[in-house]
Amino acid sequence: METSTWSERSQGENAVTGSILETVFPPNSLLSRPLNVKVRGSGIISVINEQDESGFCPFSNKGGTATSRPLPGGRFFYFLMRLKEVYTVRERLEALKAEALEELEQIGQTAQVQELRVKYLGKKGLLTEILRGMGKLSAEERPVIGQLGNEVRSAIESKLEEKKEAAERAEIEAKLASESIDVTLPGRMVHVGNRHPLTLVTEQIEDIFLGMGFTVAEGPEIETDYYNFETLNLPKNHPARDMQDSFYITEEILLRTHTSPVQVRTMEKMKGKVPVKVICPGRVYRRDNDDATHSHVFNQVEGLMVGENVRMSDLKGVLLNFARQMFGEGTEIRLRPSFFPFTEPSAEVDVSCSMCGGKGCRVCKHTGWLEILGSGMVHPRVLEMAGYDPEKYTGFAFGMGIDRIAMLKYGIDDIRHFYTNDVRFLKQFNRV
Ligand code: DAH
Repeated sequence: METSTWSERSQGENAVTGSILETVFPPNSLLSRPLNVKVRGSGIISVINEQDESGFCPFSNKGGTATSRPLPGGRFFYFLMRLKEVYTVRERLEALKAEALEELEQIGQTAQVQELRVKYLGKKGLLTEILRGMGKLSAEERPVIGQLGNEVRSAIESKLEEKKEAAERAEIEAKLASESIDVTLPGRMVHVGNRHPLTLVTEQIEDIFLGMGFTVAEGPEIETDYYNFETLNLPKNHPARDMQDSFYITEEILLRTHTSPVQVRTMEKMKGKVPVKVICPGRVYRRDNDDATHSHVFNQVEGLMVGENVRMSDLKGVLLNFARQMFGEGTEIRLRPSFFPFTEPSAEVDVSCSMCGGKGCRVCKHTGWLEILGSGMVHPRVLEMAGYDPEKYTGFAFGMGIDRIAMLKYGIDDIRHFYTNDVRFLKQFNRV
């Protein structure tokens, strides 16, 4: 703490009067206003206020003959301590009020209002600090000063309130102005995706067969030679394997060439129970030269029904029902004898051309019929290998190409559209 005495300061104190102190040098102004003080040793001797427009200097050392320099930070506190003793509590209260109202006048943000509330009225604020000095007052003075203190507090409080409301209003208005919406601007397009045509057709096929009591099963796309060929009565070196050349991963593992292996996998899971009624949609692969009607990857739906007394007429009935739901009420089907190693007898199934109603057109190559699937009665060897007694149970199976059905249904002329994923192609199916 500084050691200078009041006698040093009082030499220059002759200009001090209560009224001037209130307006020219309120205590808090000293905090923000640049002052020049003359410093001797470590104590303040005089203040000369060259920068103060009023020209008054309470601590002037006789007409400003003193040399001066800016108040150093370290002496600031000391200076204020001195002031406390120079001014009366009343003077300081009045000065505080004037200072607070002036400072509040200049601000415009709610955060600043809060800051000033703390500064002036807070527990450690300036008003509390002044009122702490009341202890030294006489018994008559105390209630008078107390009342003044309350007046100052409520004056500052109502100004704070007024400023807070104004600031809040201004902030809301600024926010509204910056967030205004131009309702005349065109809206932003929301792009809604749609299902792939193959998905649409697969779901439709599933719905039709679910309606006939079938369930949906799936199997792996990476398949073993055993399930893809062996269990389907296509032993190694069987010539029919040539029709389904595949992508081999090892000697024994390949990309499945058809969905038929799911027939066997399903029967194994059913462990001899009947009836078996499943359809198995999925992707299949074949080594092929891609063109408008051939693809190395395409989709099939396998169908299988096993039970007692399942007959060829059941196959025909199920497929006719399917064809009519899929292609229209008047659709007819025909079965042509064929060969598959896993069925006996086997048949290829055609549906009457939905484009020309059977009269003959470009799509059906003027035959009136469209070939859509292969089918037959499950070969006894296949039933046996899958754990079903062929003496007791019979079954039918079929396999159809989903891509071909989708092409017929939507008039798509190139199978490659399904996987090249041109959005202009895919977007056309958003309403089907
Ligand atoms: N898996 C045969 C193929 O991809 C299609 C097929 C024919 C499936 C007859 C069958 C069937 O289930 O019974 O060429």
